[in-house]
Amino acid sequence: MNTSAAVEMRNIHKRFGSVLANNDVSLDINRGEILALLGENGSGKTTLMNMLAGIYFPDSGTIRVNGEPVVIASPKEAFELGIGMIHQHFKLVDVLSAAENIVLGLEGKLDLKSATKKIREICDAYGFDVNPSQKIYDMSVSQKQTVEIVKVLYRGADILILDEPTAVLTPQETDKLFAVLRNMRDDGKAIVIITHKLNEVQALSDKVAVLRGGRYIGTLITKDTNAQEMTDMMVGRAVSLNIDRPDPVDPQLRLEIRDLTVRNEEGLLKLDHVSFDANSGEILGIAGISGAGQKELLEAIYGLQGTEEGTVIFHDPETNKAIDLKYKTPMQIRQLGVSLSFVPEDRLGMGLVGSMDITDNMMLRSYRSGPHGFLNRKAPKSMARWIIRELEVATPGTSIPVRRLSGGNVQKVLVGREIAQTPKVLMMAYPVRGLDINSSYTIYQLMNLQKEKGVAVIFVGEDLDVLMELCDRILVLCGGKVSGIVDGRKADKQQIGLMMTRVGGEQDGE
Ligand SMILES: Nc1ncnc2c1ncn2[C@@H]1O[C@H](COP(=O)(O)OP(=O)(O)OP(=O)(O)O)[C@@H](O)[C@H]1O
Ligand SMILES: [Mg+2]
Repeated sequence: MNTSAAVEMRNIHKRFGSVLANNDVSLDINRGEILALLGENGSGKTTLMNMLAGIYFPDSGTIRVNGEPVVIASPKEAFELGIGMIHQHFKLVDVLSAAENIVLGLEGKLDLKSATKKIREICDAYGFDVNPSQKIYDMSVSQKQTVEIVKVLYRGADILILDEPTAVLTPQETDKLFAVLRNMRDDGKAIVIITHKLNEVQALSDKVAVLRGGRYIGTLITKDTNAQEMTDMMVGRAVSLNIDRPDPVDPQLRLEIRDLTVRNEEGLLKLDHVSFDANSGEILGIAGISGAGQKELLEAIYGLQGTEEGTVIFHDPETNKAIDLKYKTPMQIRQLGVSLSFVPEDRLGMGLVGSMDITDNMMLRSYRSGPHGFLNRKAPKSMARWIIRELEVATPGTSIPVRRLSGGNVQKVLVGREIAQTPKVLMMAYPVRGLDINSSYTIYQLMNLQKEKGVAVIFVGEDLDVLMELCDRILVLCGGKVSGIVDGRKADKQQIGLMMTRVGGEQDGE
């Protein structure tokens, strides 16, 4: 493939108050190439790309597109240069159809019929699956993302930037997206993908550019590098990519789940007689394809979800009592020491308020549990400080609004808040979604610390390799049923994969 520079960025600086988000960055983006942009949370990846998309304007430095110096003052001007960006948070109008969203804001008379025809052509050319008349609110995350991509292609983009597009996709959806991106690359488009998943960098990209602390560190040829080299370059020192798994010490029964059965509003069975135990000093992993009942399970334990049948018994180490959580409110359950952090697809969606600062977000969780009632800002403030220190949250202080933090740093606040509550049962769903490798390992290490303190940790994860390295036992969900519970030390990836798609994991014909 003949490659030529589509974009040349030179000596770009961008400052936000006291934060130098991009510090003298120079980067080339070539046609016919997929470039992965790699860097820790807060290293300046989104900022840099936002300057190509016309969202931010550089303080200094130059940008050339197709060899010509350009000024990109708005998203519209970016589109006119053929640059389209798919953002970390989607920007679609829910009540409009796919086609309406795609043509939204375009000048000239709105002709939905010819728009629909053009959308179909784009879909056929690259292998997308979009129904132009479907409303956005009826779509899955991956369908919404497809609409975003078709939208930028519709506007003629041939330089495509995707900011963490797979953070919210299933492995199957990711494969599909990658196939489409390869088609586009072979078609001569220039593609930049921001991702924290090194296996994706390796599977998809031709080159990988690394940012660290706002600076450009260098570009590697993907096939000539490896996970260790990329990580070391990203972090700036040698990083161990091994996950510890200490042996459980004196495991005691904490949660006893029997025949838990849940139906959704439409009457569909979401959990079907789920039974298992969770013990102190142990990490129990929950594996399953997306929508296999993970969310319903955690919410049922936490009192957020009505149940049809079954019991959830909490064995309280303080009182030695067995308590049926079914008759408790989420607030009471939390006060007993059972905590839940669920990192949703939209990280600001659940549990954090973007306009509030870190301290106030701590108070959202703890304001009722203090012995002297609420509005004591001291405890939340020290909790906020603890999280910033322990999880290395990149922020100028505790009083910055959460929405101004980079994506990954928002998440550290969300996860840290649960750990800081010293729970007895800690349930975590997707805690490393969108986190860089180093922060992910910090979270795994924190889970191990909780385990060693005698907490019963329940960890719903997406990455099977990590589940197999970290967990003592792995419960596999399939279509709302327990497909099996395996020993993490002896688990076989193939076998778990099969169990995720078939209850029990048996081969056909057995
Ligand atoms: N609008 C803004 N106002 C103030 N600070 C900002 C703003 N946008 C970004 N920053 C800061 O600039 C730095 C770089 O942020 P950026 O979002 O570019 O990081 P990132 O590499 O995309 O991180 P992540 O992997 O977590 O998404 C961070 O310290 C962030 O807090
Ligand atoms: Mg980002």
